[in-house]
Amino acid sequence: MNIGVFDSGIGGLTVLEEVVRLLPGYDYIFYGDSANNPYGEKTDEQLLEITSNIVEYLKERDCRLIVIACNTATTRCRHALMRKYPDITFIGTVPAVKLACDSNYSNILVLATPGTIASERMSQLVNDNIRPNQKIYPLACYGLADAIENHVPEAVDIILDSIKEQYGDKNIDCIVLGCTHYPFIKEDIQKRFPDADIIDGSNGVARETRRQLQLMNEYHESDKPGTLEFHFTKK
Ligand code: DGL
Repeated sequence: MNIGVFDSGIGGLTVLEEVVRLLPGYDYIFYGDSANNPYGEKTDEQLLEITSNIVEYLKERDCRLIVIACNTATTRCRHALMRKYPDITFIGTVPAVKLACDSNYSNILVLATPGTIASERMSQLVNDNIRPNQKIYPLACYGLADAIENHVPEAVDIILDSIKEQYGDKNIDCIVLGCTHYPFIKEDIQKRFPDADIIDGSNGVARETRRQLQLMNEYHESDKPGTLEFHFTKK
């Protein structure tokens, strides 16, 4: 069995890294769908069609467990994928709002794609986890994943400067990176918010992957590293 990991491009590599760190002895196929980036500004119907094609590809390659290394695809179409492919175990990635709330931060800024921020799952995460005296600011970052995917640092700077202008006086003590592309610009974000802790959900994804492998009776510890294969689509 292979483990499939997919995203709308390079973002998913930040999740893959954590999963492989925790579970080195498996064979992975990474699918970076750069041709269809950004996912964050697509409809649910478009996303289901695009991600179904990826799942078909990974299924052909004997992936019975697939990590959706994308907050947007997880929040918008994970359930539809689970219904469509009941024989596959899907692990999702969602903004680490629970971790931020449980860690007792007061002013939590959640950065994610417009698709993730507008999703029902996002509202649930906030409503289920927010505690009295906590403030959560979910922010749709138009164009940010695209600028990272296509290496346009000037565009990243403009977007981050505007975030700093909007939230610089809100005593933000935690920033949740709710898009798997954002860890690549963690330092740029930190520079603008030096007092905030910056967190993401990739470690939780890795632990959930291990838990599901155990449930599937596919868990094994191994000193011997498995294989990594990369497949990227191009615009
Ligand atoms: N990396 C993806 C996420 O976590 C999506 C970025 C995009 O394609 O908009 O949401």
